[in-house]
Amino acid sequence: MTHALEIRNLHIYYNSFHAVKGISITIPTNTITAIIGPSGCGKSSFLRVINRMNDLVPHARILGEVFFRGVNIYDPSVCEIDLRRRMGMVFQKPNPFPFSIFDNVAFGLRIQNRRDKVFLQERVEESLRRCALWDEVRDRLHQSAYELSGGQQQRLCIARALAVYPDVLLLDEPCASLDPKATKRIEELLQKLKEEITIVIVTHNMQQARRISDYAAFFHSGELVEWGTSAEIFDYPKKQLTQEYTQGLFG
Ligand SMILES: Nc1ncnc2c1ncn2[C@@H]1O[C@H](COP(=O)(O)OP(=O)(O)O)[C@@H](O)[C@H]1O
Ligand SMILES: [Mg+2]
Repeated sequence: MTHALEIRNLHIYYNSFHAVKGISITIPTNTITAIIGPSGCGKSSFLRVINRMNDLVPHARILGEVFFRGVNIYDPSVCEIDLRRRMGMVFQKPNPFPFSIFDNVAFGLRIQNRRDKVFLQERVEESLRRCALWDEVRDRLHQSAYELSGGQQQRLCIARALAVYPDVLLLDEPCASLDPKATKRIEELLQKLKEEITIVIVTHNMQQARRISDYAAFFHSGELVEWGTSAEIFDYPKKQLTQEYTQGLFG
């Protein structure tokens, strides 16, 4: 099995605060890895390091190595703009841009200077189809994205990320603001997408993590307590803390 990502001895500091403490983990290609753990344990920080979004956070300092397909992404020769194209990111609150549905999905392509109208139309349709959103929006592509429901907006954000053909999709609690039906659609979508891309998802929902993930990593107070297949983490955890967390004894 090949690894999309390999994180070695990652430490993250915000000023003198040590938020992530020596995490090492590998993320196999075409799998879903769930990052779980209580609030403040470093899940979002970890995700932001993977596509170098933490570069944009003032006072953040990163030690350790992150390999993406064998290349250390913190090597000075790596272009972080190109890296972020290859790693889509989706956040807890759907964040469509104040444009039309079409222009949201085309956004990343236009940044790449792709102007050909036919190409843009094809890629927008394809991305919306991959997110099972096409049939719901095909007749209103030029209406504001804000007119969509929360669940549709979140699928639109995934479509926007997919339009530039990323290798990795990073999702930070993408269903936290959605109802169960919209959540189910996103879960089905991720299951399908993993055939083509590698997915890392932060979730607070243990049922969700168990349903959709192949691997799971349990973080606590900035440390990686345990990491393994989802069956190992949820059914046969080695550490008592993992068992207590996954059984909902603390949040
Ligand atoms: N930009 C920042 N500046 C200072 N502290 C931060 C910043 N981002 C996160 N932290 C702190 O780092 C710790 C981990 O945060 P975070 O990665 O957001 O955790 P989680 O996503 O698991 O809730 C928390 O204590 C949080 O307050
Ligand atoms: Mg978070």
